[in-house]
Amino acid sequence: MSDKKHDGRVLITGASAGIGRELAFQFARNGHDLILVARSEAALDDLRIELEDVHKVSALVMPQDLTLANGPQKLIAKVRAMDEEIGILVNNAGVLEAGPFAELETKKAQRMIQLNVLALTTLTNMVLPDMVARGSGRILNVASTASFQPIPMLGLYAATKAFVLSLTEAMSQELVGTGVTVTALCPGVTKTDMVANVQEDSHMMSQMPEFFMSDPQDVAKRGYNACMSGRVIEVPGFANQVGAAWSQMQPKWLVRNVVGFLSRQTDLAK
Ligand SMILES: NC(=O)c1ccc[n+]([C@@H]2O[C@H](COP(=O)([O-])OP(=O)(O)OC[C@H]3O[C@@H](n4cnc5c(N)ncnc54)[C@H](OP(=O)(O)O)[C@@H]3O)[C@@H](O)[C@H]2O)c1
Repeated sequence: MSDKKHDGRVLITGASAGIGRELAFQFARNGHDLILVARSEAALDDLRIELEDVHKVSALVMPQDLTLANGPQKLIAKVRAMDEEIGILVNNAGVLEAGPFAELETKKAQRMIQLNVLALTTLTNMVLPDMVARGSGRILNVASTASFQPIPMLGLYAATKAFVLSLTEAMSQELVGTGVTVTALCPGVTKTDMVANVQEDSHMMSQMPEFFMSDPQDVAKRGYNACMSGRVIEVPGFANQVGAAWSQMQPKWLVRNVVGFLSRQTDLAK
């Protein structure tokens, strides 16, 4: 039985792969109509066919590079031109670049901020007023366990995810009593292309035992449930919960020195 509770579609960014694709299945399984966003139109089309076939929902494919100037604005304009309403916004699309900040190409740094921070901020900022006016809506922002502490060798990535968690927490308080909720999903290392790409450059990461990695399907399920119940922060997996709690209970100098020591043992410094 469907537990669809909101009018309008669920717009999912980064729906063509990984956690976003699994989130699309979760929402479809529960009867939600969707708008699927990423750059790869063919992958989104295949997903649309599967979702419509198996779960009998309606899915629209809207290919968009969200790092392009006005990419998020163009996407929302397309949604409005089709007279569609966004009942739930899932800001999932993200990229990760590893290595020392001094060696990070400016173009890659900017792209990471454009996708992980600017696109998420712009989409949320454009969609939220209608939700508040309607008195209903949900936003699911995909952050990370990297949101809870600085991570040398993943410094900018962790900073973008700290931004996502901070904005989500602040909004959750601003939205009390409006009927709109916002959730930060904070996965640990999860078996997707994003991690496979880091593993290609890192012998140590490639040796990481499978049991340390979360399954994207489990992560998506936890994200879906947290979003629908209006929980503010969701950290899937016991080990990740312990790590996040530890980071928050220790003084900052201790956390950065411990994480700094551990990161210097890795081979992410190219
Ligand atoms: N995997 C992990 O260990 C992990 C852990 C914590 C948090 N996360 C977060 O979870 C989210 C999803 O990550 P994932 O591991 O599922 O990554 P993934 O498998 O690499 O998928 C990333 C998704 O984002 C889309 N995307 C990339 N660049 C885009 C752009 N410029 N415009 C629009 N869409 C774009 C990709 O589709 P196209 O290439 O077709 O555009 C793809 O659908 C990210 O925010 C990530 O930071 C991941």
